[in-house]
Amino acid sequence: MTREQYLRLIAALGAGSLLPQNVLAELLTVTELRRSDFGTNFIWGTATAAYQIEGGWNEDGKGESIWDHFTHYKKQKIKTRENGDVACDFYHRYESDIELMRQMNIPASRFSIAWSRILPQGTGAVNQRGIDFYHRVIDKCLKENVTPWVTCYHWDLPQALEEKGGWSNRDSIKWFEEYVNIISNAYGDKVKNWMVFNEPMAFVPLGYLIGVHAPGKVNFEKFYKAVHNVVMCHGAGGRVLRSNVKGGNIGTTFSCSHIDAKNDKPANLKAAKRADAFINRLFFDPIMGLGYPTQDLPACKQIEKHIQPGDEEKMKFDFDFIGLQNYSRMMVYNLGLIPIIHFANVPAKKLGNDMTDMGWEVYPEGIYQLIKKYSAYKDVPPLVITENGAAFPDVVNNGEVNDTKRLQFIKDYLAQVLRAKNEGADVRGYFIWSFMDNFEWAEGYRPRFGLVHNDFTTQKRTVKASGKWFSEFLKA
Ligand code: GAL
Repeated sequence: MTREQYLRLIAALGAGSLLPQNVLAELLTVTELRRSDFGTNFIWGTATAAYQIEGGWNEDGKGESIWDHFTHYKKQKIKTRENGDVACDFYHRYESDIELMRQMNIPASRFSIAWSRILPQGTGAVNQRGIDFYHRVIDKCLKENVTPWVTCYHWDLPQALEEKGGWSNRDSIKWFEEYVNIISNAYGDKVKNWMVFNEPMAFVPLGYLIGVHAPGKVNFEKFYKAVHNVVMCHGAGGRVLRSNVKGGNIGTTFSCSHIDAKNDKPANLKAAKRADAFINRLFFDPIMGLGYPTQDLPACKQIEKHIQPGDEEKMKFDFDFIGLQNYSRMMVYNLGLIPIIHFANVPAKKLGNDMTDMGWEVYPEGIYQLIKKYSAYKDVPPLVITENGAAFPDVVNNGEVNDTKRLQFIKDYLAQVLRAKNEGADVRGYFIWSFMDNFEWAEGYRPRFGLVHNDFTTQKRTVKASGKWFSEFLKA
């Protein structure tokens, strides 16, 4: 029996857990993966976000978003001084891009709606041309047999709302309900898979605590308030979607990182718990009805101050699925002088593993650990990997992009997803970040995450080796 046959037998018997973990992991890594290993109902797709690909930043009545504002007025915050004004020009090229998805056999596309295309001022007057644009995108997806998975909010708050305090204003709960109500009424008949938020643990601290993303604030009080308001918006948005989308599959997404302590020193072990509470649990626990992780992260007391009577019940929402987004892991140690979290990361380059173009450690086993971790929560809904991928410096050579590192990265991470699945974790799908190279926030266009290379001068798309592999894999 070849190793491959052996592995398939093991998987078929559901006996993966009988093998020593390291042997199974190795087997999975050296063996070619097959789509069928994941079962017939497993969801496969690629992911993008409105601001990162659309361009058309002020077209057809679109209002300004915090990312338009941030990249135009705080240019120095973007390493390359670039912006998403044009990005991949998806606003004008969505048809050929979705056709390319179909040609690549990609069954599902996760994308987001730009709030300020729908409601240029954030609330009030609806921009019909914005509504129409996403109808065209969704209709094209359906025509090409690409199932739309829609994220309501992927970081681009209307600037008009930021001027009223943005997520730190408790009215954001109302604003968000209004917006989600409009889009789910508009598209709920055609789109069944919805995600309320993309990665609250990224946009809230990056935008309000350390100020490296829009709106660029460094303000503890705003941060604490924003955490609580965004937690409340998960439940509020989830409830609106549940009532408007018949037969909907309603979820939300969380960034997460497997966390190790630098060593066994008690202070470092405690720091690892604190890091886990901050990175992996701050938004997830209250949504699961467990409240803020105050015991492991005492700073949560500052957040709890903003809980109003009746909030506890509303913070919880029974999602149909939880999206996990993972890229790397963190190794941490205790560092008292860091406010709020009191820990710091060991730099990735000291960890001895490969690194991506983002300076992130390649650590496939982390995704396995995370699936196991979240699966262990009582009453956790099914999990979907809504983002995983890597940036590497790709070049087009004679019309080809030989991105071997990305291809290996995807295979290695997928093997770990399969490992967790074969051990009984209820993980139902996997989306690669990203369909094509795009605007990588404060990093500009340099880091390339796509399965499809984009030349940002000519907008020429070139399917990379990883994209070709994925389409073959999907075809099988
Ligand atoms: C995620 C984010 C995406 C993308 C990706 C790669 O955190 O949701 O928008 O930028 O990271 O950095």
